[in-house]
Amino acid sequence: MSSELKTISIGMLGCGVVGSQVARLLQSDQEELSKRSGAELVLKKIGVRTAGAREGIPAALLTTDLLSVVNDPEINIVIEVLGGIEPARELILAAIANKKSVITANKALLATHGHELFNAADAAGVDLYYEAAVAGAIPIIRSMRESLAGDQITRVMGIVNGTTNYILTKMHEEGRNFADVLAEAQKLGFAEADPTADIEGHDAAAKAALLASLAFHSTVTIDEVYCEGISNISADDIAAAKVMNSVIKLLAIAELTVKDEISVRVHPVMLPLTHPLASVRDAFNAVYVESEAAGQLMFYGRGAGGAPTASAILGDLVAVTRHRAYSTVGYGESDYADLDIAPLGDVKSQFLIRLWVADKSGVLAGIATVFAKQGVSIQGVRQSGMGLDAELIVVTHAATEDDLDATVEALKAMDIVKNVESVIRVEGVGA
Ligand code: HSE
Repeated sequence: MSSELKTISIGMLGCGVVGSQVARLLQSDQEELSKRSGAELVLKKIGVRTAGAREGIPAALLTTDLLSVVNDPEINIVIEVLGGIEPARELILAAIANKKSVITANKALLATHGHELFNAADAAGVDLYYEAAVAGAIPIIRSMRESLAGDQITRVMGIVNGTTNYILTKMHEEGRNFADVLAEAQKLGFAEADPTADIEGHDAAAKAALLASLAFHSTVTIDEVYCEGISNISADDIAAAKVMNSVIKLLAIAELTVKDEISVRVHPVMLPLTHPLASVRDAFNAVYVESEAAGQLMFYGRGAGGAPTASAILGDLVAVTRHRAYSTVGYGESDYADLDIAPLGDVKSQFLIRLWVADKSGVLAGIATVFAKQGVSIQGVRQSGMGLDAELIVVTHAATEDDLDATVEALKAMDIVKNVESVIRVEGVGA
Protein backbone atom coordinates (compact mmCIF):
# COMPACT_ATOMS: atom_id res chain seq x y z
CA MET A 1 0.00 0.00 0.00
CA SER A 2 1.55 3.31 -0.96
CA SER A 3 0.89 6.51 0.93
CA GLU A 4 -0.66 9.54 -0.76
CA LEU A 5 1.31 12.01 1.32
CA LYS A 6 5.08 12.03 1.24
CA THR A 7 5.57 14.44 4.13
CA ILE A 8 3.54 15.03 7.27
CA SER A 9 4.27 18.34 8.99
CA ILE A 10 3.73 18.61 12.70
CA GLY A 11 3.00 21.68 14.76
CA MET A 12 3.26 21.60 18.53
CA LEU A 13 1.59 23.87 21.07
CA GLY A 14 3.66 24.06 24.26
CA CYS A 15 7.23 23.10 25.01
CA GLY A 16 7.43 22.34 28.71
CA VAL A 17 8.40 19.10 30.46
CA VAL A 18 6.44 16.93 28.00
CA GLY A 19 6.73 19.06 24.85
CA SER A 20 10.51 19.30 25.07
CA GLN A 21 10.75 15.49 25.26
CA VAL A 22 8.40 15.09 22.29
CA ALA A 23 10.60 17.51 20.31
CA ARG A 24 13.79 15.73 21.38
CA LEU A 25 12.50 12.28 20.43
CA LEU A 26 10.97 13.53 17.19
CA GLN A 27 14.39 14.83 16.18
CA SER A 28 16.51 11.90 17.41
CA ASP A 29 14.14 9.14 16.20
CA GLN A 30 12.79 10.93 13.12
CA GLU A 31 13.91 8.27 10.64
CA GLU A 32 12.53 5.31 12.60
CA LEU A 33 9.25 7.08 13.37
CA SER A 34 8.84 8.04 9.72
CA LYS A 35 9.33 4.40 8.61
CA ARG A 36 6.68 3.28 11.10
CA SER A 37 4.31 6.05 10.06
CA GLY A 38 4.42 5.58 6.29
CA ALA A 39 5.29 9.25 5.72
CA GLU A 40 8.20 11.52 6.46
CA LEU A 41 7.57 13.29 9.76
CA VAL A 42 8.78 16.86 10.02
CA LEU A 43 8.46 19.00 13.14
CA LYS A 44 7.72 22.37 11.56
CA LYS A 45 6.71 24.77 14.31
CA ILE A 46 6.41 24.96 18.09
CA GLY A 47 4.11 27.56 19.62
CA VAL A 48 5.20 28.74 23.08
CA ARG A 49 3.61 31.24 25.44
CA THR A 50 6.86 32.90 26.49
CA ALA A 51 9.71 33.78 24.14
CA GLY A 52 13.23 32.51 24.81
CA ALA A 53 15.61 29.72 23.88
CA ARG A 54 14.72 26.09 24.71
CA GLU A 55 17.61 23.69 25.17
CA GLY A 56 17.99 21.30 22.26
CA ILE A 57 15.29 23.04 20.17
CA PRO A 58 16.34 24.98 17.04
CA ALA A 59 15.29 28.62 17.58
CA ALA A 60 13.81 28.71 14.07
CA LEU A 61 11.05 26.28 15.16
CA LEU A 62 9.80 28.48 18.00
CA THR A 63 7.07 31.08 17.75
CA THR A 64 4.95 32.91 20.33
CA ASP A 65 2.16 33.20 17.76
CA LEU A 66 0.14 30.14 18.81
CA LEU A 67 -2.53 30.76 16.18
CA SER A 68 0.08 30.62 13.43
CA VAL A 69 0.61 26.94 14.30
CA VAL A 70 -3.03 25.93 13.90
CA ASN A 71 -3.52 28.16 10.85
CA ASP A 72 -0.39 27.04 8.98
CA PRO A 73 -1.73 25.34 5.82
CA GLU A 74 1.33 23.10 5.60
CA ILE A 75 0.84 21.61 9.07
CA ASN A 76 -1.15 18.35 9.05
CA ILE A 77 -1.06 17.31 12.71
CA VAL A 78 -1.08 19.47 15.85
CA ILE A 79 0.23 18.18 19.19
CA GLU A 80 -1.23 20.15 22.12
CA VAL A 81 0.75 20.04 25.35
CA LEU A 82 -0.10 23.51 26.71
CA GLY A 83 -2.50 22.23 29.37
CA GLY A 84 -5.40 24.25 30.84
CA ILE A 85 -8.75 25.01 29.24
CA GLU A 86 -8.07 28.20 27.26
CA PRO A 87 -6.47 28.93 24.89
CA ALA A 88 -6.04 25.15 24.36
CA ARG A 89 -9.75 24.65 23.56
CA GLU A 90 -9.92 27.43 20.98
CA LEU A 91 -6.64 26.44 19.39
CA ILE A 92 -7.69 22.78 19.06
CA LEU A 93 -11.06 23.80 17.58
CA ALA A 94 -9.25 26.05 15.09
CA ALA A 95 -6.86 23.22 14.17
CA ILE A 96 -9.79 20.83 13.64
CA ALA A 97 -11.67 23.44 11.58
CA ASN A 98 -8.53 23.64 9.43
CA LYS A 99 -8.73 19.83 8.94
CA LYS A 100 -5.72 19.02 11.07
CA SER A 101 -5.68 15.94 13.27
CA VAL A 102 -4.91 16.68 16.90
CA ILE A 103 -3.05 14.82 19.64
CA THR A 104 -3.48 16.15 23.15
CA ALA A 105 -2.39 15.28 26.67
CA ASN A 106 -4.95 17.68 28.13
CA LYS A 107 -7.16 15.69 30.53
CA ALA A 108 -8.77 18.74 32.14
CA LEU A 109 -9.87 20.05 28.74
CA LEU A 110 -11.23 16.71 27.49
CA ALA A 111 -13.00 16.00 30.78
CA THR A 112 -14.77 19.35 30.49
CA HIS A 113 -15.25 20.00 26.76
CA GLY A 114 -14.58 16.54 25.29
CA HIS A 115 -18.05 16.25 23.77
CA GLU A 116 -17.65 19.49 21.79
CA LEU A 117 -14.11 18.62 20.67
CA PHE A 118 -14.80 15.00 19.68
CA ASN A 119 -17.91 16.07 17.75
CA ALA A 120 -15.91 18.74 15.93
CA ALA A 121 -13.22 16.19 15.02
CA ASP A 122 -15.85 13.72 13.85
CA ALA A 123 -17.57 16.34 11.69
CA ALA A 124 -14.26 17.45 10.17
CA GLY A 125 -13.14 13.86 9.51
CA VAL A 126 -9.92 14.17 11.54
CA ASP A 127 -8.48 12.30 14.50
CA LEU A 128 -8.43 13.62 18.07
CA TYR A 129 -6.17 11.24 20.03
CA TYR A 130 -5.30 11.51 23.72
CA GLU A 131 -3.41 8.45 25.00
CA ALA A 132 -1.16 10.70 27.11
CA ALA A 133 -4.09 12.30 28.96
CA VAL A 134 -4.64 9.32 31.29
CA ALA A 135 -1.85 7.57 33.18
CA GLY A 136 1.06 8.87 31.05
CA ALA A 137 2.90 6.03 29.32
CA ILE A 138 0.31 3.34 30.13
CA PRO A 139 -1.54 2.38 26.91
CA ILE A 140 -4.95 2.37 28.58
CA ILE A 141 -6.94 4.54 26.17
CA ARG A 142 -6.15 2.48 23.09
CA SER A 143 -6.62 -0.75 25.05
CA MET A 144 -10.09 0.25 26.20
CA ARG A 145 -11.17 1.91 22.97
CA GLU A 146 -9.83 -0.70 20.55
CA SER A 147 -8.66 -3.93 22.18
CA LEU A 148 -11.70 -4.15 24.48
CA ALA A 149 -14.18 -2.74 21.94
CA GLY A 150 -15.80 -6.17 21.63
CA ASP A 151 -16.25 -6.71 25.36
CA GLN A 152 -18.53 -5.28 28.07
CA ILE A 153 -16.46 -3.45 30.66
CA THR A 154 -18.14 -3.54 34.04
CA ARG A 155 -15.64 -1.74 36.25
CA VAL A 156 -12.43 0.27 36.03
CA MET A 157 -10.34 1.06 39.10
CA GLY A 158 -7.19 3.09 38.70
CA ILE A 159 -4.31 4.56 40.61
CA VAL A 160 -4.02 7.45 38.19
CA ASN A 161 -2.22 10.08 40.24
CA GLY A 162 1.44 9.52 40.99
CA THR A 163 1.83 12.33 43.54
CA THR A 164 -0.82 10.93 45.87
CA ASN A 165 0.38 7.36 45.38
CA TYR A 166 3.89 8.47 46.32
CA ILE A 167 2.61 10.21 49.48
CA LEU A 168 0.43 7.26 50.53
CA THR A 169 3.31 4.83 49.90
CA LYS A 170 5.65 6.84 52.14
CA MET A 171 2.98 7.14 54.83
CA HIS A 172 2.43 3.37 54.73
CA GLU A 173 6.05 2.29 54.60
CA GLU A 174 7.55 4.89 56.96
CA GLY A 175 4.63 5.53 59.34
CA ARG A 176 4.84 9.28 58.72
CA ASN A 177 1.96 11.74 58.61
CA PHE A 178 0.50 13.39 55.52
CA ALA A 179 1.83 16.96 56.03
CA ASP A 180 5.36 15.73 56.68
CA VAL A 181 5.50 13.52 53.56
CA LEU A 182 3.88 16.20 51.38
CA ALA A 183 6.46 18.80 52.49
CA GLU A 184 9.28 16.39 51.67
CA ALA A 185 7.74 15.48 48.31
CA GLN A 186 7.53 19.18 47.43
CA LYS A 187 11.17 19.70 48.41
CA LEU A 188 12.24 16.77 46.21
CA GLY A 189 10.10 17.98 43.28
CA PHE A 190 7.70 14.99 43.42
CA ALA A 191 4.78 17.26 44.34
CA GLU A 192 3.84 20.65 42.88
CA ALA A 193 4.34 23.87 44.87
CA ASP A 194 0.52 24.12 44.75
CA PRO A 195 -0.43 20.46 45.21
CA THR A 196 -4.22 21.03 45.39
CA ALA A 197 -5.14 19.42 42.04
CA ASP A 198 -3.27 16.26 42.98
CA ILE A 199 -3.99 15.84 46.69
CA GLU A 200 -7.66 16.85 46.50
CA GLY A 201 -8.24 14.36 43.68
CA HIS A 202 -9.10 16.83 40.88
CA ASP A 203 -6.41 15.48 38.52
CA ALA A 204 -7.65 11.92 39.13
CA ALA A 205 -11.27 13.06 38.67
CA ALA A 206 -10.54 14.33 35.14
CA LYS A 207 -8.96 10.96 34.31
CA ALA A 208 -11.90 9.12 35.92
CA ALA A 209 -14.30 11.03 33.65
CA LEU A 210 -12.30 10.00 30.56
CA LEU A 211 -12.08 6.35 31.65
CA ALA A 212 -15.81 6.23 32.47
CA SER A 213 -16.73 7.78 29.11
CA LEU A 214 -14.67 5.20 27.25
CA ALA A 215 -15.71 2.21 29.34
CA PHE A 216 -19.42 2.90 29.14
CA HIS A 217 -19.79 4.63 25.74
CA SER A 218 -21.28 7.72 27.36
CA THR A 219 -20.14 11.29 27.89
CA VAL A 220 -19.00 11.80 31.49
CA THR A 221 -17.65 15.19 32.55
CA ILE A 222 -15.42 16.06 35.50
CA ASP A 223 -18.24 17.83 37.35
CA GLU A 224 -20.13 14.51 37.45
CA VAL A 225 -17.30 12.77 39.30
CA TYR A 226 -17.61 12.55 43.10
CA CYS A 227 -14.22 13.58 44.40
CA GLU A 228 -12.49 13.24 47.76
CA GLY A 229 -8.71 13.61 48.14
CA ILE A 230 -6.16 12.28 50.62
CA SER A 231 -5.50 15.35 52.82
CA ASN A 232 -7.65 13.90 55.63
CA ILE A 233 -5.88 10.54 55.71
CA SER A 234 -4.01 10.30 59.00
CA ALA A 235 -1.12 8.13 60.19
CA ASP A 236 -3.74 6.40 62.43
CA ASP A 237 -5.86 5.52 59.35
CA ILE A 238 -2.81 3.99 57.72
CA ALA A 239 -2.03 2.09 60.92
CA ALA A 240 -5.61 0.76 61.00
CA ALA A 241 -5.25 -0.40 57.38
CA LYS A 242 -1.99 -2.15 58.25
CA VAL A 243 -3.63 -4.01 61.13
CA MET A 244 -6.19 -5.28 58.61
CA ASN A 245 -3.43 -6.40 56.17
CA SER A 246 -4.48 -3.63 53.83
CA VAL A 247 -3.22 -0.39 52.26
CA ILE A 248 -4.96 2.90 51.56
CA LYS A 249 -4.87 4.02 47.92
CA LEU A 250 -6.51 6.92 46.10
CA LEU A 251 -8.62 5.25 43.43
CA ALA A 252 -10.52 6.51 40.42
CA ILE A 253 -13.49 4.15 40.09
CA ALA A 254 -15.95 3.89 37.22
CA GLU A 255 -18.51 1.11 37.42
CA LEU A 256 -21.87 0.03 36.15
CA THR A 257 -24.52 -0.15 38.85
CA VAL A 258 -27.31 -2.73 39.01
CA LYS A 259 -29.62 -0.08 37.55
CA ASP A 260 -27.29 0.30 34.53
CA GLU A 261 -26.16 3.70 35.66
CA ILE A 262 -22.53 4.82 35.90
CA SER A 263 -21.00 5.39 39.30
CA VAL A 264 -17.87 7.48 38.86
CA ARG A 265 -15.82 8.66 41.80
CA VAL A 266 -12.39 9.38 43.23
CA HIS A 267 -11.71 8.73 46.90
CA PRO A 268 -9.33 6.92 49.23
CA VAL A 269 -9.99 3.20 49.44
CA MET A 270 -8.73 0.50 51.78
CA LEU A 271 -7.51 -2.44 49.69
CA PRO A 272 -6.29 -5.83 50.96
CA LEU A 273 -2.59 -6.48 50.30
CA THR A 274 -3.64 -9.34 48.04
CA HIS A 275 -5.35 -6.98 45.55
CA PRO A 276 -3.19 -6.32 42.43
CA LEU A 277 -3.51 -2.54 42.91
CA ALA A 278 -2.13 -2.77 46.46
CA SER A 279 1.35 -3.52 45.15
CA VAL A 280 1.54 -0.34 43.05
CA ARG A 281 4.09 1.77 44.94
CA ASP A 282 5.60 5.25 44.79
CA ALA A 283 4.65 7.42 41.79
CA PHE A 284 3.62 4.48 39.58
CA ASN A 285 0.12 4.30 38.11
CA ALA A 286 -2.02 1.26 37.32
CA VAL A 287 -5.46 0.65 35.91
CA TYR A 288 -7.42 -2.51 36.76
CA VAL A 289 -10.22 -3.31 34.33
CA GLU A 290 -12.98 -5.87 34.81
CA SER A 291 -14.98 -6.97 31.80
CA GLU A 292 -17.50 -9.67 31.05
CA ALA A 293 -15.48 -11.82 28.68
CA ALA A 294 -11.85 -10.89 29.35
CA GLY A 295 -12.24 -10.96 33.13
CA GLN A 296 -9.63 -8.93 35.01
CA LEU A 297 -6.83 -6.98 33.30
CA MET A 298 -4.15 -4.82 34.88
CA PHE A 299 -2.11 -2.09 33.18
CA TYR A 300 0.91 -0.73 35.05
CA GLY A 301 3.57 1.90 34.38
CA ARG A 302 4.75 5.47 34.69
CA GLY A 303 1.88 7.91 34.82
CA ALA A 304 3.78 11.16 34.48
CA GLY A 305 7.11 12.67 33.46
CA GLY A 306 8.43 14.08 30.20
CA ALA A 307 9.70 10.97 28.42
CA PRO A 308 6.95 8.52 29.51
CA THR A 309 4.23 10.98 28.49
CA ALA A 310 6.08 11.71 25.22
CA SER A 311 6.05 7.95 24.51
CA ALA A 312 2.23 7.96 24.55
CA ILE A 313 2.11 11.08 22.36
CA LEU A 314 4.49 9.60 19.80
CA GLY A 315 2.46 6.37 19.71
CA ASP A 316 -0.57 8.50 18.83
CA LEU A 317 1.51 10.40 16.29
CA VAL A 318 2.50 7.22 14.44
CA ALA A 319 -1.14 6.05 14.37
CA VAL A 320 -2.56 9.41 13.32
CA THR A 321 0.14 9.87 10.67
CA ARG A 322 -0.69 6.47 9.16
CA HIS A 323 -4.34 7.53 9.01
CA ARG A 324 -3.37 10.79 7.26
CA ALA A 325 -1.00 9.02 4.91
CA TYR A 326 -3.72 6.58 3.88
CA SER A 327 -6.58 9.11 3.98
CA THR A 328 -8.56 7.55 6.76
CA VAL A 329 -9.35 8.17 10.44
CA GLY A 330 -9.15 5.90 13.45
CA TYR A 331 -11.71 4.96 16.07
CA GLY A 332 -13.60 8.02 17.29
CA GLU A 333 -15.33 8.34 20.63
CA SER A 334 -18.64 6.54 21.01
CA ASP A 335 -21.34 7.84 23.31
CA TYR A 336 -24.28 5.87 21.94
CA ALA A 337 -25.12 4.25 25.31
CA ASP A 338 -25.74 7.67 26.92
CA LEU A 339 -26.02 6.17 30.42
CA ASP A 340 -27.01 8.30 33.42
CA ILE A 341 -24.77 8.98 36.39
CA ALA A 342 -25.89 7.18 39.54
CA PRO A 343 -26.62 9.49 42.50
CA LEU A 344 -23.83 9.01 45.06
CA GLY A 345 -26.30 8.25 47.84
CA ASP A 346 -27.46 5.09 46.03
CA VAL A 347 -23.98 3.73 45.41
CA LYS A 348 -23.02 0.68 47.49
CA SER A 349 -19.61 0.08 49.06
CA GLN A 350 -18.15 -1.57 52.08
CA PHE A 351 -16.92 0.89 54.71
CA LEU A 352 -14.42 1.02 57.52
CA ILE A 353 -15.46 3.29 60.39
CA ARG A 354 -12.83 4.10 62.99
CA LEU A 355 -14.19 5.60 66.20
CA TRP A 356 -13.32 6.16 69.84
CA VAL A 357 -15.88 5.00 72.40
CA ALA A 358 -16.18 4.72 76.17
CA ASP A 359 -14.87 1.29 77.23
CA LYS A 360 -17.73 0.01 79.39
CA SER A 361 -20.43 -2.62 79.27
CA GLY A 362 -23.21 -2.26 76.72
CA VAL A 363 -21.21 0.01 74.41
CA LEU A 364 -20.68 -2.53 71.66
CA ALA A 365 -24.35 -3.54 71.82
CA GLY A 366 -25.39 0.14 71.55
CA ILE A 367 -23.15 0.72 68.58
CA ALA A 368 -24.39 -2.44 66.85
CA THR A 369 -27.98 -1.28 67.35
CA VAL A 370 -27.29 1.97 65.48
CA PHE A 371 -25.91 0.05 62.50
CA ALA A 372 -28.86 -2.37 62.60
CA LYS A 373 -31.40 0.49 62.68
CA GLN A 374 -30.04 1.84 59.38
CA GLY A 375 -29.94 -1.65 57.87
CA VAL A 376 -26.13 -1.55 57.66
CA SER A 377 -24.74 -5.02 58.29
CA ILE A 378 -21.45 -5.35 60.20
CA GLN A 379 -18.83 -7.68 58.72
CA GLY A 380 -16.26 -7.36 61.52
CA VAL A 381 -15.25 -5.35 64.58
CA ARG A 382 -11.80 -4.89 66.06
CA GLN A 383 -11.25 -3.23 69.42
CA SER A 384 -8.07 -1.91 71.01
CA GLY A 385 -8.22 -0.33 74.45
CA MET A 386 -6.43 2.62 75.91
CA GLY A 387 -7.37 3.72 79.47
CA LEU A 388 -11.07 4.50 79.75
CA ASP A 389 -11.63 4.67 76.01
CA ALA A 390 -11.35 2.10 73.24
CA GLU A 391 -10.71 2.41 69.52
CA LEU A 392 -13.22 0.49 67.46
CA ILE A 393 -12.70 -0.39 63.82
CA VAL A 394 -15.96 -1.50 62.25
CA VAL A 395 -16.05 -2.92 58.72
CA THR A 396 -19.48 -3.16 57.12
CA HIS A 397 -20.91 -5.33 54.41
CA ALA A 398 -21.93 -3.40 51.25
CA ALA A 399 -24.22 -0.51 52.18
CA THR A 400 -25.45 2.58 50.37
CA GLU A 401 -23.70 5.90 50.96
CA ASP A 402 -27.00 7.32 52.27
CA ASP A 403 -27.45 4.53 54.85
CA LEU A 404 -23.84 4.81 55.91
CA ASP A 405 -24.09 8.62 56.30
CA ALA A 406 -27.21 8.21 58.46
CA THR A 407 -25.38 5.62 60.59
CA VAL A 408 -22.38 7.91 61.11
CA GLU A 409 -24.64 10.84 62.07
CA ALA A 410 -26.43 8.63 64.62
CA LEU A 411 -23.09 7.39 66.01
CA LYS A 412 -21.84 10.97 66.42
CA ALA A 413 -24.95 11.81 68.47
CA MET A 414 -24.32 9.02 71.02
CA ASP A 415 -22.88 9.91 74.45
CA ILE A 416 -20.73 6.81 74.48
CA VAL A 417 -19.08 7.81 71.17
CA LYS A 418 -16.15 10.16 71.87
CA ASN A 419 -15.30 10.73 68.22
CA VAL A 420 -15.81 9.24 64.76
CA GLU A 421 -12.26 9.54 63.50
CA SER A 422 -12.68 8.43 59.92
CA VAL A 423 -14.81 6.66 57.36
CA ILE A 424 -12.97 4.94 54.52
CA ARG A 425 -14.46 2.89 51.72
CA VAL A 426 -13.23 -0.68 51.37
CA GLU A 427 -12.77 -2.57 48.10
CA GLY A 428 -11.65 -6.04 47.21
CA VAL A 429 -12.57 -7.97 50.36
CA GLY A 430 -15.91 -9.40 49.21
CA ALA A 431 -19.16 -7.72 50.22
N1 HSE B 1 0.20 15.36 38.50
C1 HSE B 1 -0.08 14.07 37.97
C2 HSE B 1 0.43 13.00 38.93
C3 HSE B 1 0.53 13.81 36.63
O1 HSE B 1 0.93 13.30 40.01
O2 HSE B 1 0.31 11.84 38.58
C4 HSE B 1 -0.19 14.50 35.53
O3 HSE B 1 -1.53 14.09 35.46
